[in-house]
Amino acid sequence: MSPLIRPMAPGDAAQAAALEARVPDSWSEESIRETLAEGHCCVAEADGRLMGLCLCGLVLDEASIYAVTVAEDMRRRGVARAMLQWMLAHLADQGAKTVFLEVRAQNEPARALYRALGFTQVGLRRGFYRDPADDAVLMKKEL
Ligand SMILES: CC(C)(COP(=O)(O)OP(=O)(O)OC[C@H]1O[C@@H](n2cnc3c(N)ncnc32)[C@H](O)[C@@H]1OP(=O)(O)O)[C@@H](O)C(=O)NCCC(=O)NCCS
Repeated sequence: MSPLIRPMAPGDAAQAAALEARVPDSWSEESIRETLAEGHCCVAEADGRLMGLCLCGLVLDEASIYAVTVAEDMRRRGVARAMLQWMLAHLADQGAKTVFLEVRAQNEPARALYRALGFTQVGLRRGFYRDPADDAVLMKKEL
């Protein structure tokens, strides 16, 4: 299975929101649509099915990754890695020099993913998350 990574289109928002609804701190369809209008978003698709999404913002040369989510039954197959590689190249093309993100301290799969892509920890925000309570690890990558 080799997913197609492509820019998110308005018609993807409902399926993207359905994927998001299954993870903590999920993005609503409305907030996905707003980010799509103002930011940089991509999806992973195979056989017409949307299996992952990545939402980002860019201000001047500083980008932020807001969300990376892959369908439960498609995890550990390189889908998130492929989306992030696509997105980092796209953001660099758009003038980004630095990329930041926040991740739950207890979310080891996501922290491992970001480390594998060259992100390093640059800060810790204690008690940042609720439901469930957790610290936020701030990570950064220079492009
Ligand atoms: C985190 C998440 C996006 C990873 O997606 P994925 O498609 O399964 O990740 P990939 O298969 O591309 O993994 C790439 C690398 O990340 C790391 N990784 C991913 N999942 C991991 C896990 N469960 N345990 C340890 N390392 C993991 C590994 O280094 C992996 O490389 P490898 O498979 O060669 O060892 C996915 O688990 C998810 O959607 N989680 C719920 C939403 C979420 O937490 N998003 C992040 C919010 S900041």
